[in-house]
Amino acid sequence: MRLSVVILAAGQGTRMRSQLPKVLHAVGGQPMLAHTVAVARELGAEQIIVVYGHGGEQVRQVIGSDHVEWVVQREQLGTGHAVQQAIPKLHHGADQVVLVLYGDVPLVRSQTLRRLLDGQTNNSLSILTTLQDNPTGYGRIVRNDDNNVAKIVEEKDADAQTKKINEINTGILCTAVPEITRWLDKIDNNNQQQEFYLTDCVELAVNEGKSVQAKICEDPNEVMGVNTRVQLAQLEAIYQSRKREELMLEGVSLRDPESVYVEGNLEVGNDIVIEPNVLLRGRVTIEDNVTIGMNSVIINTRIAKGAIIHPHSHIEDASIGRGCQIGPFARVRPNTELGDEVKLGNFVEVKKSKIGGGSKVNHLSYIGDATIGEETNIGAGTICCNYDGANKHQTIIGNNVFIGSDVQLVAPVTVADGATIGAGSTITRDAPANKLTLSRSKQTTVENWQRPTKKGK
Ligand code: UD1
Ligand code: MG
Repeated sequence: MRLSVVILAAGQGTRMRSQLPKVLHAVGGQPMLAHTVAVARELGAEQIIVVYGHGGEQVRQVIGSDHVEWVVQREQLGTGHAVQQAIPKLHHGADQVVLVLYGDVPLVRSQTLRRLLDGQTNNSLSILTTLQDNPTGYGRIVRNDDNNVAKIVEEKDADAQTKKINEINTGILCTAVPEITRWLDKIDNNNQQQEFYLTDCVELAVNEGKSVQAKICEDPNEVMGVNTRVQLAQLEAIYQSRKREELMLEGVSLRDPESVYVEGNLEVGNDIVIEPNVLLRGRVTIEDNVTIGMNSVIINTRIAKGAIIHPHSHIEDASIGRGCQIGPFARVRPNTELGDEVKLGNFVEVKKSKIGGGSKVNHLSYIGDATIGEETNIGAGTICCNYDGANKHQTIIGNNVFIGSDVQLVAPVTVADGATIGAGSTITRDAPANKLTLSRSKQTTVENWQRPTKKGK
């Protein structure tokens, strides 16, 4: 079987009340359409065709054209019409199967779709259905006396009896390319909505004596679509609870699962503890025995074994070595690389810097555009003055250096191995190895000085 996937994404999404095309609204930090494209890729689709309409350029830009073909549907004349726009692009082999997915139904799992595709034979039609306690608004699956599918009736075309059916059409279906091409040529728009319904293919198939199989999706959440921001939030909740469950099953303890959010791709080891209110975004790798403290945000970062991220830390585009201790209240900004056993304490900001193993920056510092060696201690309040108002400059600090408190390192500047810098110094020239360097005006005491007093007292 060779698979073509057609993703419908032309609808305007009026009820979102948004400038952003509906399919670009995010679930789990990714546009809904990106989830659908990803599941199509997972199935090994030979081609993925997205039918777009509203906000076309923007949608194309965000999703890209890697393994994705784009077809415009200028007027939204119905789901059948939408699929028809893709027909000329479809590969037309005899064993070519087309699977129709939706850009606003992002949570469907590849396993479910495989089950649907597995039942697909050369001239059959397979539809994915589900049971809804409240089926209002959906197309209903009408079965005949033998319990075989007879047709799909849309809510607006349904009589009272039909409206009671709670097996509903998810919209997802698959069939052979030659068949759907023929059926779509035959459908009309003689219905309440005056639209060309994709669902009319079902009755056409039945009338031709073809087998129509309905696979029931056990979990109605999986095939939920989004029309409003209320539903978007519901989908987000479903997505997050899936992710949390996956994490816990992989060996991560979530102290308060409901408050942990995952947006992106997570790789985790065992015996990780994630405390409440943590957000993990982008590509995040967390190795064994790491703890992530309350209210921390971790973005595109790798955290090696045994590191402890204390509460209220914000870490982005960084690599954290084994056994590091970060925070509380640390900010690690992009392009930061920490060796093993590095300590960053409270109110320390690090940007675009490398800090070698065993070094410590424990309090109230800014380390930017710096390279720091191993076993170096940076005193409280030390600032890398990396910016001259126009350009950024490097600060190089060697191994085993001791920088006293409240030092300004005016870059470009180098502090060699084993150097000591006296507290309160402003260092503007390179400091030599193994010596004490300081820049301080002499301490004086003014003998006859008096504190001013308030006038008129
Ligand atoms: C459709 C199904 C209905 C099913 C429901 C599931 C039909 C006729 N009905 O109804 O049986 O229960 O989905 O949610 O298929 N779209 C286009 N171009 C168009 C029209 C729609 O790309 O001209 C896209 C929309 O962007 C959307 C999807 O197709 O992603 C479904 O369209 P929508 O109008 O929401 O169909 P429903 O009336 O909900
Ligand atoms: Mg809909």
